Amino acid sequence: MMIDQIKVRVLLLESVHSDAVSRLEAEGYHVESVSGALDEADLIKRIPGVHLLGIRSRTRVTAKVLEAADSLVAVGAFCIGTDQIDLRATSRAGVTVFNAPFCNTRSVAELAIAEIIMMTRRLAEKNALMHAGVWDKCAEGAHEIRGRRLGIVGYGNIGTQLSVIAENLGMHVSYYDTADKLALSNARRCATLEELLETSDFVTLHVDGRASNAAFFGAEQFKRMRPGSLFLNLSRGICVDHLALRDALTSGHLAGAAVDVFPQEPNGRGDEFRSELRGLPNVILTPHIGGSTEEAQSTIGTFVATKFVNLINEGDTSLCVTPPELAAASLPNRGRPGTLGPQWRQILRRREHLTR
Ligand code: NAI
Repeated sequence: MMIDQIKVRVLLLESVHSDAVSRLEAEGYHVESVSGALDEADLIKRIPGVHLLGIRSRTRVTAKVLEAADSLVAVGAFCIGTDQIDLRATSRAGVTVFNAPFCNTRSVAELAIAEIIMMTRRLAEKNALMHAGVWDKCAEGAHEIRGRRLGIVGYGNIGTQLSVIAENLGMHVSYYDTADKLALSNARRCATLEELLETSDFVTLHVDGRASNAAFFGAEQFKRMRPGSLFLNLSRGICVDHLALRDALTSGHLAGAAVDVFPQEPNGRGDEFRSELRGLPNVILTPHIGGSTEEAQSTIGTFVATKFVNLINEGDTSLCVTPPELAAASLPNRGRPGTLGPQWRQILRRREHLTR
């Protein structure tokens, strides 16, 4: 069979959003969807003949999987992280990797704002008391957020969006970032993390998960925070020493905390959650749902599916996680709708050679 008449085959795992399926089917691709993750052995069985593989965070794309992937052109992580993919192996095999780095930014920023207001009004405690039948009507310890200073550590996609929303609610914003970042609106850049900690009423972490950020926020940083201030982490669990956070809360130095991410998180829904922070009344705990909204899932689905389509039709690898970058101009030919164009012939031949 002529290679330019091969229908594009897509395998989507882990209940990738239906908007992705619609986008790919509209191109005439053959899409197979699987609701759960596949383990290595099952993925090795399913991967031959697949051109585009879509996963979320639980499917591991290992070097062995790639060895069996005789036709794979791209892997799409329908999420932010790509730790589950052996990126060296994908680069070696010439497989392009995409993710959705900023599709759930707004959802995280909105949850942070909700938690800032909840903590400032002590809503978690009031709610628990009401459910226990206690009418605790008092203004003590409850505040407005207007005029308070929010300290954002990590002024990237999420940090900057949060900065804009917080200012619109009347807050003052400071930020600290290890990279040079332009201050949006009236936000104030802090030269050091210490300066931010000492001057903020709230400290919220939005740093990335690079190795050097492991436990970078611990006893010393909590001590630097203002007495009675509040702490949030919606970035990565490994960034924070949770025992030190517990001490800062139980000693009364911090008035409260909201934590969405944990050093060890349960594998699946319904599994037991263990943490030093359980049982503290002034702590809001959420199961890593910062980015988990229907809107974010739909945007992610469309975003990554469109990356697939642009790659197949135009050779466009913009915003890919790893090389190879393909120059669109060097891939001018398109196949018939829903099929692999002749521009992929050379690439698939190379793959055949690698997996033989
Ligand atoms: P980003 O990469 O756009 O921004 C991260 C920023 O942190 C960068 O500007 C970087 O220079 C800065 N940074 C890194 N280490 C730092 C440090 N030690 N001190 C100060 N600045 C530092 O990332 P984005 O998209 O804003 O995401 C931020 C975090 O949120 C990531 O860790 C991501 O995994 C997490 N996230 C959590 C979600 C949830 O469900 N809770 C959903 C989406 C993202």
